Parts: sequence; structure tokens; C-alpha cells
Amino acid sequence: MTTLSIIKADTGGFVGHSEVHPDMLSAAGDAVRDAVTRGLLIDGQVSRCGDDISLIMTHEHGADAEAVHSFAWNTFLRTTEIAKKLGLYGAGQDLLSDAFSGNLRGMGPGYAELEFTERPSEPVLCFLADKTEPGAWNLPLYKMFADPFNTAGLVIDSKMHAGFRFEVYDLYQDKRIVFDTPREIYDLLMFIGAPARYVVHSVQSVTLDIPAAATSTQRLSLMADKYVGKDDPVMIVRCQSGLPAVGEVLEPFAFPYSVAGCMRGSHHAPIMPVGLAQATPARFDGPPRVVALGFQITDGKLIGPRDMFADPSFDRARTMANEVMDYLRRHGPFEPHRLALEDLEYTTMRELEQRLADRWQPMHTETRVPAQTR
Ligand code: F6R
Ligand code: MG
Ligand code: MG
Repeated sequence: MTTLSIIKADTGGFVGHSEVHPDMLSAAGDAVRDAVTRGLLIDGQVSRCGDDISLIMTHEHGADAEAVHSFAWNTFLRTTEIAKKLGLYGAGQDLLSDAFSGNLRGMGPGYAELEFTERPSEPVLCFLADKTEPGAWNLPLYKMFADPFNTAGLVIDSKMHAGFRFEVYDLYQDKRIVFDTPREIYDLLMFIGAPARYVVHSVQSVTLDIPAAATSTQRLSLMADKYVGKDDPVMIVRCQSGLPAVGEVLEPFAFPYSVAGCMRGSHHAPIMPVGLAQATPARFDGPPRVVALGFQITDGKLIGPRDMFADPSFDRARTMANEVMDYLRRHGPFEPHRLALEDLEYTTMRELEQRLADRWQPMHTETRVPAQTR
């Protein structure tokens, strides 16, 4: 079995929250090459989207492996040191804990991991996003694996007719549930249409009985109990031969749907699919970006990446994202550009409510006429 792990963290931004400094990428690259030489990893690459570094690694240790997670943690400590030395912004931002213990759960860095037996040819897409949250994958995952208007294979390929199984996490209550599609699509949509709370964690093929997709699902604000930056999620999707084709997996991003994130993690904004060269959110710390790195995995080796969104077929999504951004920005601090209050409660709202608690007065003194005299 091969495990593909993407482990990511924001350990400092260059400039502000817009990019990762090249020195940090090169230090992470050295660490990954060394881990391959030592035999910890079969293969590994370093990439980035906005201010987040992603370690893309193949190995045989399975998901949640201490050896791999502690390697990533130590690598992020190293990139944090560089960020501190260069005075970069938010150095060590996502490292919430002082010491590593066992695995990265609850410690800040995000990760998506998929353990599988390699098929004769194994095309995989690694998605990295910046300035948004894990629920941002709900809509595209639904379209890829459950919407025949997106994925022709659901109709045309008999291996896909039995559908896909979605595992959904409730991030507020630490519970999980599994839905079978197409039978339960309405139940599924009821939950995943609320992506701040319900997040698709994984998808499995019913017919092939193999894992098809995995996402990172932590929410930093829920862990730290305050705003500490958005979670900037990652996702792995296997493609072809009874799974959605590469083009079907990319297709949902031709529509720049609205996600939560952007400036101060507090706004709805369109997600913009971009090539790596454009994965540098500038305007209003946004619009949120997504890159798709394509690999063929062969004997555990990462053959790639191909920069899948660096393609003119996504130009119109980018143009539309800019238009939608203009429209939303004109709302300034008003909803629906700004997030609804319940999604802001882990940021400043609670503090503000406490500060103003004494100034709120009842709106009416008791002037209501008793019922029997009406
Ligand atoms: C988005 C993000 C930024 C910051 C913003 C303010 O995920 O991290 O939008 O929230 O740049 O940052 P501070 O408060 O550090 O000045
Ligand atoms: Mg940052
Ligand atoms: Mg980020």
C-alpha cells in the first residue's frame, strides 16, 4: 500500500499573507530530499498556494503516522525559523502547540492522506487552496462524484453507476456520518450545503470499493478558540478508470463558486482557479485561490506536477471571479460579503458583545395593555 500525504502549514507570509518566501521553500525542499534519501519517504515535493507550504509525500507508513507527521512538524519549525530571521509576517502562525506528540491532530498544520494500492496507472490531482476553509471542497466534491451534469462518467461508465460514498464530519460536534449517493443526495446536500460546519472528509467508490478522495478537515479557529487565520485546505482526488476523469475532477472549478475566507477570514468571495504563478492572493487578501497539481504515481514516485489550472480553459472562471469580487466588494462590511454572525463568533464578535453588554437597554418599558382589557 502507498500513502499519499499532503501536510501543509502557514509558517509565515511574504509579503503580508500573500506568498511563501523562496528561502522557506528551498529549506523545505532540502528536508524532503533528505527524508527520501533516509528512506522515510518514497518520494516528496514541496509546493505552495498563497502563504501556505505543502509537503506532498508518498510513503508506506499509512495515515496519521508519527514518523511522517513529526517530519512535517520539524520541517515547519525550520521554515518558521527562516521566517523569523527574515522578519516575515505571521512567522509560525499555524503551529499552535509547543511540542509534537504522536501526530498532527489538533496541532495546527492541515493534512489530507490517502492510502491505496496503486493501480496500473495512477493519475492523482492534489488541490491546494489559500484564504478559505475545508468546507470549500464540499461543492466541487459533490459535483465530481454525484452530479451527472458535471461528471459524464456517472451516466456513461458502468463502474460509476452504483455511485460514491461520502464521509462527512460535523466539525462542531466531532461526529461523522456516511451517505451513499445517488440514493441519499438530498440528505447529503442538507448537511454539506452548510460548509462552515459540515465537511466532506473522504469519498469512496461503491463498485470498486477503493478510496477516491480525501480532504484536510481541521478548523484552526475551533482549535485555538479564536481567529488564527483560515485553514487553507488541501485535497487529494484519484482519477480515471471507474473514478471521475481528470477533466471531470477539474470541471467544477470552471465556476468560481463562493467560499468563506478572503480578507481576515471573514468574507464570502469567489474561489479563483489559478496556475502556480498566480497563486498569490493580493486584492483584499484574495480572491481565494486554488491550484491543482497533477501527478502520475508510479511505484510510489511522484511523476509531475502538471500545473492543471494554468490553462486557458479556466480564463473565464478567473474573469468571472474578478467580476464577482467587484460586485461583492461594493457591499463593504455588509452581508452577504461579510460572513454571517454565527460564522464570525470565533473572531471578534464575542469580544465586542462582552464589551457592549452593559450598553444594551430593553427596547420597550412594560406598556403592553393586559389581554382582558382589550
Ligand atoms: C486571511 C488572513 C489575512 C489576515 C489580515 C489581517 O486568512 O490571514 O486576511 O487576517 O491580513 O492580518 P493581521 O490581523 O495579522 O494584520
Ligand atoms: Mg498567513
Ligand atoms: Mg494561507
